[in-house]
Amino acid sequence: MFPGSEIYGGLAGTWDYGPLGLTLKNNIKNSWWKKFVEERDDMYGVDAAILMNAKVWEASGHIAGFSDPLVECKNCHKKFRADHLFGDKCPDCEGEFTEEKHFNMMFKTNVGPVEDKGSVSYLRPETAQGMFVNFKNVMDSFHPRLPFGLAQIGKAFRNEISPRDFLFRAREFEQMEIEYFTRESEWGKHFESFRTEILKWLSDIGLGKGSVHELEVPAEDRAHYSKRTIDFEFDYPFGRKELLGLAYRTDFDLSAHINKSGADLSYYDEETKERFTSHCIEPSFGLDRAVLAVLCEAYTEDELGGEARVFLKLKPNIAPIKAAVFPLLKNKPELVKKAREVFAELKKEIRPIVFDDNGNIGKRYRRQDEIGTPYCVTIDFDTLENDTVTVRDRDTGKQDRVKTGELAAIIKKAINS
Ligand code: GAP
Repeated sequence: MFPGSEIYGGLAGTWDYGPLGLTLKNNIKNSWWKKFVEERDDMYGVDAAILMNAKVWEASGHIAGFSDPLVECKNCHKKFRADHLFGDKCPDCEGEFTEEKHFNMMFKTNVGPVEDKGSVSYLRPETAQGMFVNFKNVMDSFHPRLPFGLAQIGKAFRNEISPRDFLFRAREFEQMEIEYFTRESEWGKHFESFRTEILKWLSDIGLGKGSVHELEVPAEDRAHYSKRTIDFEFDYPFGRKELLGLAYRTDFDLSAHINKSGADLSYYDEETKERFTSHCIEPSFGLDRAVLAVLCEAYTEDELGGEARVFLKLKPNIAPIKAAVFPLLKNKPELVKKAREVFAELKKEIRPIVFDDNGNIGKRYRRQDEIGTPYCVTIDFDTLENDTVTVRDRDTGKQDRVKTGELAAIIKKAINS
């Protein structure tokens, strides 16, 4: 990952994903979609526009209330989030602060060529509202029965006063959210079920129980729409901080949109003949925060063959590169030819994989260790004799000799487990 617009000095709070970072992020995203959408029968995916009618944000309460307390130093004029400060003096120059102001975090823009009040729109600060406004579309076209959920992955934007800690607090980031609709009487049951599923998925991507902690958010700290929230926190190197949230949003959003838009977003129960507004449980994941947590958790220092090494102990299912194939020696054409063949065969079944013949074999292993590649396959002189290769395990450095024909199955098993 690189600072956004780096050659121009960057743009605070933006990050660009390079080839490996993007693949890692996509693997995490796909694992989430598979678990929370594809493997279930009660979930419907949507992909709503990022720009939404400003009335959405009036109804949701974001125009009135999505703000952070802002103070400015009277001396150096630096701006700070008041609730992130310790003490009442500027940490940079000891200057006095101005009175606290409320600063709305939504990015404002104008849609169309005329810049007036009527053309104002906002970049969405959460993907959630894209699902509430599509509730009726999904109801009318798929007729789901309660409980059911809408899921969406997409960018969200917040004009954070002080973006910091790498991907943790950015101004442009990605969310993976679910709005799960239920009868009011059943919200507790579904809340608990998501609580369990969230922990299982975190473990699927390599975030073990030891580094994830649940925090029951007290009423005074909860968002305006929430009757109960649990923050799932992770032990980042800069402290224990929120990775994702699970909230009971009640019928706040659907009711607000019914009132504002006049649309009928009610649910009719065919059995009880009752019409009511559904309540909603919201698991809300920050994708970039998950990427950062996975990287922090995977970062490992150890000693191998008497030398210190740093490697990423990523779970094979989310490692960006699944395997690397090497000819033992670059200057032996028969080894390179065979290695190319093994690489081509393996690539038919497992992707992405890489071919590397650059530098000595030890250096090639270390390069793969650094990016978390779980397996390195080496083609040596025995391969030419008996069609076997060595497979080196990233975590132990141990090498096993296997038949080339069995290679794909062995690696596939690890990736899928
Ligand atoms: N729809 C509910 C909602 O947006 P939130 O707690 O404000 O709730 C949900 O945000 C998640 O989005 C957070 O738990 C975090 O993972 C991620 N997130 C929020 N602000 C972020 C930021 N500035 N940078 C990166 N991720 C952020």
